[in-house]
Amino acid sequence: MYQEVHARMCGIMGYVGPRQAAPLILDGLRRLEYRGYDSAGIAVANGDIHVRKAEGKIGRLASLLETDPLHGTVGIGHTRWATHGVPSDVNAHPHRDPSGRFVVVHNGIIENFHELRERLSAEGHLFESETDTEILAHLVALEYDGDIVAAVRRAVAHAEGAYALVVMTANEPGRIVAVRRVSPLIVGLGDGETFLASDIPAVLQHTRDFLIVEDGELVVVDADGATIEHIEGGRVDRAVMHVDWDAEQAEKGGYEHFMLKEIHEQPAVITETVGGRLDGEGEVWLEDVHFDDAFARAIDRVWITACGTALHAGLVGREIFQRILRLPTAVEYAHEMRYADPLVSAPSLTVAISQSGETADTLAAARLARQKGSRLLALTNVVGSTLSREADDVLYTRAGPEISVASTKAYMAMLIGEYLLALRIGRARGVVDEALSQRVAHGLHLLPAQVEHVLQAENDVAKAAHRIADAQDVYFIGRGLDYAVAMEGSLKLKEISYLHSEAMPAGELKHGTLALVTAGVPVIVVLTQGAVYDKTMSAVQEVKARGATVLAVAYEDDATIGAFADEVLRIPRTDDLLSPVASIVPLQLLAYHVARLRGHDIDQPRNLAKSVTVE
Ligand code: G6P
Repeated sequence: MYQEVHARMCGIMGYVGPRQAAPLILDGLRRLEYRGYDSAGIAVANGDIHVRKAEGKIGRLASLLETDPLHGTVGIGHTRWATHGVPSDVNAHPHRDPSGRFVVVHNGIIENFHELRERLSAEGHLFESETDTEILAHLVALEYDGDIVAAVRRAVAHAEGAYALVVMTANEPGRIVAVRRVSPLIVGLGDGETFLASDIPAVLQHTRDFLIVEDGELVVVDADGATIEHIEGGRVDRAVMHVDWDAEQAEKGGYEHFMLKEIHEQPAVITETVGGRLDGEGEVWLEDVHFDDAFARAIDRVWITACGTALHAGLVGREIFQRILRLPTAVEYAHEMRYADPLVSAPSLTVAISQSGETADTLAAARLARQKGSRLLALTNVVGSTLSREADDVLYTRAGPEISVASTKAYMAMLIGEYLLALRIGRARGVVDEALSQRVAHGLHLLPAQVEHVLQAENDVAKAAHRIADAQDVYFIGRGLDYAVAMEGSLKLKEISYLHSEAMPAGELKHGTLALVTAGVPVIVVLTQGAVYDKTMSAVQEVKARGATVLAVAYEDDATIGAFADEVLRIPRTDDLLSPVASIVPLQLLAYHVARLRGHDIDQPRNLAKSVTVE
């Protein structure tokens, strides 16, 4: 079955046919609203290209269209989730070239945006917006010599990254050209009309027949249908896919729950969060992190503050910063830190981690640290969020909108952000030499495929879930980075399965909790850190001796653990420093499958909210 596993950041909708395009596109964009966005816009070709766009909800765009309608039967539209440039009317898509004859919308990220923009600026190009998208409109227009397909093909040859691009020109009415590089695109086939979208729900009310555009393909759409080609040229035959999902299933990309969909998006989230920020040599470029090398060298302490899952990402961060940077790093619950009169002072760096960028306690702790002279860096998923606006530096995780209350892909992106930040600071401080930098860069580039590999073993995890589903209490143990992952694995389980679950450092077990470990009690051990492997194994033996049911998360080539654990959830071998990225995945899946067996509302657990904006 076709399942969409991309971390989509924006919505795309296009139409060619006999009907008025703007109302149809507006309706399609509304159906993509569930994914979150911060501005929306539509372009229609009718002799010329006409554009309406507005920051904010689709309602604003709808009122614009009411007072100033767009007439024409070919058009493209877009909902934007900001990445380059804040949400605003000007940054909203579609974007035109200076002649106004070419218009584009786009999802994803152009990695060599700065290079391209500098080059075009040097050639005299002026840009209205801060977006990477506008560059593409200029490039297509520059490459145009009478054939829009050839122009798009040449334009995308300059643009590196993971994206989907849709182009329309007033010069060739009646067709739309689009390219998929990673970011999804689908074609909906109607009767004498054709739709193009980033996602099936946008079009499901018009047709159930689809062509899925694959990575590396270009599609030309007109009222009679679509032709798909490789970007480099050469026709592709694609079978029509008939979809019988209802609208709700379609929003979830065919998955039963948003949480599961978001877990499966993680390989793409890693690719996107790393994209354009790290080269093979380990050179790091973080676009909104402004401090200079002198500041990086002066930092005497790192404070990490956050709540919930973001705090658990911070626990991983502490290990990374201490191990890579040898810098004292404290992780503080934001709700504790804000009232603790913390000993924060300059020249320190405070890293406030928040998916939403709106968590009240995290904002309060971050403000306090800044008042006390610390430089504030926001690690957040939402461009333009309060935290991002108040911070000195921002590192955006590019997880895309997360809908499930239990956070998975946002956590993953936070970890990736921390590795990048550690490399950036470490290079400046001279503690990360080229070899270490390359080692981490190489490891990071391998991670999407490794996480994909773990996801493919989901059935094993689903089976293992049966061992836990009827338990009263579950304990998670690990040391170092494994302990940090155990904390997050335990939180996931408790949030959605409502089982009592606790995580602790493996060495702490015998100082109390071991009294609760009796026959059949599940103990989940994360076992990836070579330096403390034997020490953690002693804890495994202690609980085994008391009859515990042991589930382990361990490397594929670990030949020891099999003899001691009842179930082993395997992950590919990674650098020990990077293991949390892979080792959290079986635990996310485990929480999901236990909750499913217990019949709970997985995406909306009781009593919990996605974003806690009050104290
Ligand atoms: C809530 C959510 C958690 C999240 C926490 C912090 O409790 O249910 O999933 O980790 O808030 O949210 P933030 O947006 O600051 O990361």
